Amino acid sequence: MATAAVCVLQKANKVVNSRSLYVTRALDKNRTAAEQKWLARQMKDPYIKEAQAHNYRCRSAFKLLEIDSKHHILHPGHHVIDCGAAPGAWSQVAVEKVNSLGRDSAARAGFVVGVDLLNITPLDGAVFLSNSDITDSDTQRKIISVLPSGKADVILSDMAPNATGIRDLDHQRLVNMCLSLLELSQRVLLPGGTFLCKVWDGSEISLVRDRLRQRFQDVRTVKPKASRMESAEIYLLAKMHKQQKH
Ligand SMILES: C[S@@+](CC[C@H](N)C(=O)[O-])C[C@H]1O[C@@H](n2cnc3c(N)ncnc32)[C@H](O)[C@@H]1O
Repeated sequence: MATAAVCVLQKANKVVNSRSLYVTRALDKNRTAAEQKWLARQMKDPYIKEAQAHNYRCRSAFKLLEIDSKHHILHPGHHVIDCGAAPGAWSQVAVEKVNSLGRDSAARAGFVVGVDLLNITPLDGAVFLSNSDITDSDTQRKIISVLPSGKADVILSDMAPNATGIRDLDHQRLVNMCLSLLELSQRVLLPGGTFLCKVWDGSEISLVRDRLRQRFQDVRTVKPKASRMESAEIYLLAKMHKQQKH
């Protein structure tokens, strides 16, 4: 089930504060068996409860938190582009980690810009470009114009196209999105910078990995615990963006 759907469920869960009342409503007899199974799984998911407890907009926050705690990709003062940012959980994490609100006066203040095809509810400490396609050149120009120096230290992408259910096709579409972001990274990512993108496992992953290896010194595949085992999603983490030869 798509992350956006998980986030919708979280909103519904907040409205109905009593868990038992919610369960009764959720497992309504009008729902199909598949819907009931999905809802039952959501209610057992510890990351959804944690997300609510920490006011994260989505459980996906924990994927980025885990990757960051292991690989140290976000630091105070960093300028970050969050691609496919809605509903905004990764941006929430980035705002905290890069100190974009300047809460830690002893540390450098960073900057976060998030982009999504969907509307993104405003978040203190982040600039959002809603209803924008990251692969569009106008959107890319806007991103560059809002970045304080026109450059970024980190590009994050948890982007995913609407799945068709045809595994190879969905894989190929996400691979194409990653390759398009890699082109953007050539224009905006600083030497030494970091690129993290979601891909769905499949035959073309090695192509993306090879392209990343040409441009980054350190490329690895990561699968945070918060990413469900049964999900085909994995993340490619590329660090130490190479200085470009002109
Ligand atoms: C899994 S959600 C991202 C969740 C987000 N990381 C969070 O923590 O809140 C994937 C998002 O990618 C967005 N997306 C897909 N294709 C896009 C594109 N071409 N440009 C911008 N956003 C895109 C979708 O609209 C969707 O909101």
